[in-house]
Amino acid sequence: MLSIRFKHALLMGLMKSLAGLGPGMSHLAFTGPGSSRQLCRYVLDQGYTKILVASDKILRELGVTEAAVKELLDAGVEVAYFDDIEPNPTFEQVDAGKHVLKAAGSQVIIAVGGGSVIDCAKIMSGAATSDEDPKNWVGFGKVKHETIPLYAIPTTAGTGSEATAGAVITNVQDHAKVVISGASLLPKAAAVDPALQQGLPPAITAATGMDALTHAIEAYICTWDRGTRKEQARVAIKTIFQALPKIYADASDHDARAAMAMAAYHAGLAINQVNVGNVHAIAHQFGAYYGVPHGLANAVVLPYVLEFSKGPAEAALAELADLVGVGGDAPTQGAKAQAFIDAVKALNTTLDIGTTLDAIKREDHAAIAQAAVLEAVSYPVPRLMMPADVLGMLDAMTV
Ligand SMILES: [Fe+2]
Repeated sequence: MLSIRFKHALLMGLMKSLAGLGPGMSHLAFTGPGSSRQLCRYVLDQGYTKILVASDKILRELGVTEAAVKELLDAGVEVAYFDDIEPNPTFEQVDAGKHVLKAAGSQVIIAVGGGSVIDCAKIMSGAATSDEDPKNWVGFGKVKHETIPLYAIPTTAGTGSEATAGAVITNVQDHAKVVISGASLLPKAAAVDPALQQGLPPAITAATGMDALTHAIEAYICTWDRGTRKEQARVAIKTIFQALPKIYADASDHDARAAMAMAAYHAGLAINQVNVGNVHAIAHQFGAYYGVPHGLANAVVLPYVLEFSKGPAEAALAELADLVGVGGDAPTQGAKAQAFIDAVKALNTTLDIGTTLDAIKREDHAAIAQAAVLEAVSYPVPRLMMPADVLGMLDAMTV
């Protein structure tokens, strides 16, 4: 227990020192319906003529990928595609993408997809200009060489990967999801174009939206007071509580869809300043062990972690209750914090997201708890988890 606390304190100190020394984390953003066309025109204006579009097979089949880069196709530049990226992308997929990029001689990458596509493309952008094994880059700031320019067009309103300098890659050999981050992995520009998100099925809308909510809440209740993380998180949380139930019930609500796209982007900007927390530390294991979609895993874990965190995070959670308009008559700050947690649970219920995951196996509990604790020590969490804490949550989440 002591060693976990010591390691956490050491990592927090190191992280704060490195953040002060590193390069800036701002990038260019195009927003609103049609902004993907603006981004493509911007890329063409840089003089690039050989472009790799990273995406996935479903988006290609639906025509979303081509719609996002229509401006490039109309301009007649050389466009190559790598669409073998799957949910919970692996180092093998990074390697395959690197070879497609090199064979095509592409000068830049445009990632069109959800978090898996954008994360995989981030590591491809580093792998394309290096002979090093990307597995050596796990952690912060290890990608020191110049990368291939990367541009991002998200097709879900959830991951926020278009706004962050981190990528989560699965190491299939040891069931581990690892985080590689650093300023060089931040996309040079992003287009948050809700027109590309109109066809998202309700279940994916719900799960990815809850991923965005998790980002915003983890950034808001964390212990590292930095930059505009609170402001970005507040805008995202208020919007998600209003807009997500609307587009889940009515996929054609364009205004709510546009609001969700921006909320996910703001939540991404928030975590890019302070990182995620205990929810992600547990949810990543469900992705690595069972391939559970990231957003769904976060949605299920979020209420358990909020209950676990409500002591030290009580004031922040009470502020969020005011923000979303619940707990107005609560007699104490603790009761108000509980009202916010209850509102998160109610949102899950509205989105038909349960409190358990069928995939979790009891024989994996110990290994998952160990891995989650190990991951969480590097996050500025309001309450540090011990293995027994995670085991208790896993027990409640297992059918
Ligand atoms: Fe996430």
